[in-house]
Amino acid sequence: MIKNDLFLRALKGETVERPPVWMMRQAGRYLPDFMKLKEKYDFFTRCRTPELAAEITTMPIEQVGTDAAILFSDILVVPQAMNVEIEMKPGVGPFLPNPVRSPLDVNDIIVPDVYEELGYVYDAIKLTKERLNDEVPLIGFAGSPWTILCYLVQGQGSKNFDKAKEFCFKRPDAAQVLLQKITDTTIAYLKGKVKAGVDTIQIFDSWGGLLSPTDYQTYSWKYIQQIIDALKDEIPVIAYGKGCWFALKEMSQSGAAALGVDWTCSAMNARYLSGGQITLQGNFDPSRLYSSPQEIKKMTTQMIDEFGKDRYIANLGHGILPDIPVKNAQAFVDAVKEYKPR
Ligand code: CP3
Repeated sequence: MIKNDLFLRALKGETVERPPVWMMRQAGRYLPDFMKLKEKYDFFTRCRTPELAAEITTMPIEQVGTDAAILFSDILVVPQAMNVEIEMKPGVGPFLPNPVRSPLDVNDIIVPDVYEELGYVYDAIKLTKERLNDEVPLIGFAGSPWTILCYLVQGQGSKNFDKAKEFCFKRPDAAQVLLQKITDTTIAYLKGKVKAGVDTIQIFDSWGGLLSPTDYQTYSWKYIQQIIDALKDEIPVIAYGKGCWFALKEMSQSGAAALGVDWTCSAMNARYLSGGQITLQGNFDPSRLYSSPQEIKKMTTQMIDEFGKDRYIANLGHGILPDIPVKNAQAFVDAVKEYKPR
């Protein structure tokens, strides 16, 4: 049904002519047309207005030609629906006036009716699907429960999320209650996204790599596995964990269709650790898009040579940076599209 189904075929592990390509955080951030919308509408207005979300989602498809679209939204709309006030401060990022700091605070967090609280996301998906006209698949997403907890407790972005970790290790029982509430909400939320029409789901565990391998199991992976279990029979799930190379073996046995890897793990190690069968996605260093288009093309071709063209989705290892020139992002996408197996 989808005209360009390279991405869906790669998720199934089928043989492809060339790998599909998209870029994490491709919707919004660096495109000049997006910057213009950003001047006019604040962040959550853009998320809550289906026409704007659909317009931003389709921009990279029309302007740089990626093989998949990712819905313009944010992982933090989920905790917002759970009764937490979240602001997006321009130039700073997420800010929570009342972060979760005690077991009592956890009691105030609700598991909402997602259709009531997040209906605008489903409307945005339906409108985006119409606009995409089945040209490319649409990716829906959610943050991992651990990554959401990081913001809920820390109250803002951080290099090490020290307050989030302190809370987990001083109040492990309350942390598990909170993580389970986020998990339950996320499962309902993602099932709604599937009903609304997304073609695949990615779970962003952006801060999983801050945990030790043992704590990763207890505070992050356990909950991601619940989400995968609840969705895997309905839709392919991509699990992306930044810095989580140590968990690739376990992740490869989870029922996920594909695993995202960052640039600190070589293709060879990622294939080895994940058992060699599962589709991998990644892992170009987003800062490498500051290199010249010529160098970007060379490095991208080399990356595909290393991963192999099959069971592979070309992507960055984390989100695209806001000041990347469009021509450099274009060089990355073009290099994948021009790829010829050796
Ligand atoms: O891929 C896409 O572009 C689709 C939309 C998308 C956004 N956020 C839009 C956004 C996606 C997939 C996200 C995911 C997200 N949000 C993650 C996981 C991926 C990652 O980058 O690690 C995280 C940790 C967040 C939380 C978040 N939202 C932060 C830390 C920030 C501020 C800094 C930043 O990354 O720009 C946001 C704001 C945000 N989310 C913006 C956009 C386009 C920028 C603010 C704005 O446009 O006004």
